[in-house]
Amino acid sequence: MILGIESTAHTFGIGIVSKGKILCNVRDMYTTEKGGIIPVDSAKHHARVSDEIYKKAIDLAKIKERDIDAIAISQAPGLAPCLLEGMRFAKRKAKELGVPIVPVNHCVAHLEIGRITGASDPVLLYASGANTQIIAYAAGKYRVFGETLDIGIGNFIDTFARHCGMGFPGGPKIMEHAKSGKYIEVPYTIKGMDVAFSGLLTNLKQKFDKGEKIEDLSYSLQETAFAMLVEASERALAHTGKKELLLGGGVGCNTRLQEMCKIMCEERGCKFFVPEREYLVDNAAMIAYLGEIIYDSNNLKNNKSLKRFDADENTYGMLVYFEKDFNKLDINPRERTDDVNVRWK
Ligand code: ATP
Ligand code: FE2
Repeated sequence: MILGIESTAHTFGIGIVSKGKILCNVRDMYTTEKGGIIPVDSAKHHARVSDEIYKKAIDLAKIKERDIDAIAISQAPGLAPCLLEGMRFAKRKAKELGVPIVPVNHCVAHLEIGRITGASDPVLLYASGANTQIIAYAAGKYRVFGETLDIGIGNFIDTFARHCGMGFPGGPKIMEHAKSGKYIEVPYTIKGMDVAFSGLLTNLKQKFDKGEKIEDLSYSLQETAFAMLVEASERALAHTGKKELLLGGGVGCNTRLQEMCKIMCEERGCKFFVPEREYLVDNAAMIAYLGEIIYDSNNLKNNKSLKRFDADENTYGMLVYFEKDFNKLDINPRERTDDVNVRWK
């Protein structure tokens, strides 16, 4: 039984997984009235709510604390103060319970949680606020086939929405406005499998200032930005020869994006998977889920070769950290998806 902790940005969450089954997925989000996320304040939020979320998770999962075998933690990537708070909490709990810690990469967790939907080896279109990447596992690594060259898709949508006087988050509001809009020509930017949104953002803002209708702008925004994502995803499918597309990240809640992905997949003879909302947005169940896969593989490998995971030999990238090695376990705010040392597959 693995308890997972998520704390990369605004969400503090705890999820518990046993044998691939999610027993609970609890979270609390730091929000601001105006403007973006202030990392230090978000970290304070995490510190404030962590004990309560932990209790809630244990109750909801109907387990005893002593049943927990290990704690999985989102170690990377993210905002340093937030990651640190999660790590501090994980180490404290792990010491109390006498269990090891399994560090997990947040982006890889978004991909692997797709297994609960039936996807086995997908291309992931990871479309969240801060991240926009097309990721797949190939030749021993999780590779980024394409990504945004400037801002994340969610941040792009939220920035435009804020410019037009809508509150945060803008995504759901833009989706509503788009329903009664018609198309206006706006710039479409894709380079190979990479996309960019800042030109489109500037153009949309200018059109809004000139008095174009918000419905039409919302519609054109969605049709254009999502077509870019779908085109890049299709290239990644063609390039890798994979037959599954998985959607991840908060923007994946958008029903028009889901529909466009589905149509593209049908046309190529691929399968399309989208998890429920609670596993699309940042969540700790996915951290526990990947943590369990890594923990189990370590147990298997340890039986064969204990030495390989001896902390004194090679401290970087151990799969599982026991208390004697906690001082060697740190956050990794800038870890890239393709930096992940995959040794559990
Ligand atoms: P990460 O650290 O993984 O990048 P994040 O906080 O940046 O996380 P998420 O929590 O995954 O992002 O998602 C938040 C984003 O999802 C916001 O930008 C929000 O506007 C967007 N969003 C939510 N619902 C919708 C929707 N229906 N349509 C479009 N965007 C949406
Ligand atoms: Fe995320």
